[in-house]
Amino acid sequence: MSRFPMPAQTRRAFLASAAASTAGAVLPVLWRSPVHAAAPHEVQLRVAPGRTRLMPEPSGEIAAWCYGGTVPGPEIRVRQSERLRVVVENGLAEETTVHWHGVRVPHAMDGVPHLTQKPIGAGERFVYEFDAVDAGTFWYHPHQRSFEQVERGLYGPLIIEEREPAHVDRDVTWMLDDWRLTKSGAISEDFGNRHDIHHNGRVGNTVTINGRVPDTFAVRAGERIRLRLINAANARIFSPDFTDLQPIVIALDGQPVAPYPPDGGLVVLGPAMRADLILDMTGKPGRRVSIFDRFYEGLEYKLVDIAYSDTPLREGAPDWPLALPANPLLEPDLETASRNEVVFTGGMMGQMVAQGMGEIMGPGAPGGMTRDMNSMMGGGMMQMMNSSTAWFINGIAADQARHDMKPALTLARNKSHVIAMTNATAWHHPIHLHGHSFRVISRNGQPTRHREWQDTVLVSPREKVEIAFVADNPGDWMFHCHILEHQAGGMMAVFRVA
Ligand code: C2O
Ligand code: CU
Repeated sequence: MSRFPMPAQTRRAFLASAAASTAGAVLPVLWRSPVHAAAPHEVQLRVAPGRTRLMPEPSGEIAAWCYGGTVPGPEIRVRQSERLRVVVENGLAEETTVHWHGVRVPHAMDGVPHLTQKPIGAGERFVYEFDAVDAGTFWYHPHQRSFEQVERGLYGPLIIEEREPAHVDRDVTWMLDDWRLTKSGAISEDFGNRHDIHHNGRVGNTVTINGRVPDTFAVRAGERIRLRLINAANARIFSPDFTDLQPIVIALDGQPVAPYPPDGGLVVLGPAMRADLILDMTGKPGRRVSIFDRFYEGLEYKLVDIAYSDTPLREGAPDWPLALPANPLLEPDLETASRNEVVFTGGMMGQMVAQGMGEIMGPGAPGGMTRDMNSMMGGGMMQMMNSSTAWFINGIAADQARHDMKPALTLARNKSHVIAMTNATAWHHPIHLHGHSFRVISRNGQPTRHREWQDTVLVSPREKVEIAFVADNPGDWMFHCHILEHQAGGMMAVFRVA
C-alpha cells in the first residue's frame, strides 16, 4: 500500500482526520500518488469520424469513428504507478465520454455520462488524469451511446506494465472485434435495433484483430509470446482454441492469476473481457497452425493462421518464470461480508426461463427468494411488453440515455461484500462493475478453481455466480451487462459505495 501514497491535498485531509480519530481505524486505499516528481504521461486523443481499412487491399477504406485517426485507437502504455493524463477532444457531431475499462480510477475520471461527468459535447475537451494503480491489460471506450460509438470503431488498448514484467520475447496485443458490414462493405447502420436488443446483441459478420481481418501471424520456433487478448466486440463471445500451443493464462481482466492451462486450450472471452496468455511457439520452422474460434457451436471459424518462419529462435521453450506480481487489491473477508442478491431477467424466452428458474431455485433458494424473484420477473415481463426496455436488474430496467439512476445497492465503504447474481434469462451476460475488481468465488454453488479477479464476469444462462470484493472506491458505480445492446435495453444499475 505504501507504494501508492496519496496526493498532497488528500494526504493533508487524511492526516487531519487521522489525527482527530482514534488509533486502529481502517486505512483507506489510496487512489492517487503524492507529489509526482515526473510529469504525467500525457496523451492527446482526438475522437472523430475517419476512415479505416478492415480488409486487406485491394479492398478500400470504409467510414468509421476513430480515436487518434485509427481503429483501434493508439495503444496507451504506461508503467504501474505512473500518472496518466489524456486530453480528449471531441470531433464528433454528438456527445461522448471515455471510460477506462477495468482501471480503478477515482470516480470523477470514470467517464460515465451524467453519473461521473457532464458528457463531452461536440467540439469540447475533457482532461482525464489518474494513477495507474494496477498493472495489466485494460482498454478504453466511450460510455455514451456505446452500442453505436464502440461499434463504429471507438476503442483502444491501455497497457499498464508491471515494474518487473514477465520475461518474454514479444509482448503482443490482439484487440478482437466483429463488424456487421453491408454487401457494399460499409458498417450497417441498424445500431441498437429491437431484435439485437432482445436477443444476443449485435453479432457481426466480419471478425478483426487490431482492426484488420487477419491473414497470418508470423512467429519463430522457440519464441515466447505474451499475448494480451481484449474483446472489444459489442456482443460476440470469443473462444479461441490454442490447443497445439498449450497456452498458459497468467492474467484475467488485467489481474494476475496463478498461471494455469485453460480447459481444452480454449480461452473464453465475453465482451470487454481480457486474458493474458503465455504462448511458447513449439511448432516446427516453416509450419502453419490455425487458430479456430469455437464459442458458437456449429459456427466455428478460422480466426488466424500462425506461420512459423524458417529460422528458429531457439531450441525448445525457455524456462523463465510465468507468475506476475500481485496488484494492490484488498482481500475480501467472506466472514464479515454483506450478502446481496441480484437477479437478471428479460430477453426473448425470458418468461420460460423465469418459470424454470422458479422451480430450480425453489427448494434450495434462500428464504423469500423464490417469491421475490417471481414478482420481479412478473413485473419485468409486464414492463417489457409495454415498452422498448428488454432487460432488468432486480426488476428494474434503466433508461439508457441517463446513467445517473437511484442506486440499486448501497455498499458500506471499506467493507467486504458478496454479490450473488442469478441469471434468470436464456442468454449469456458479461457483467461489469466499475471502479473495482472482484473475486469470482463460486459458480452454481461450487467454489471457482482460480478465485480469479475480474471486472467483467461471463454469466451463463440460468447460472448463479458469486463475486466478492472490498468496496474501497467511493462513489456511484455502474454495474451493467457489457453486451452493449443489452445495456441499451436497460441492463444496467448503479452501486453506491459510501
Ligand atoms: Cu467497458 Cu461500463 O464499461
Ligand atoms: Cu447481457
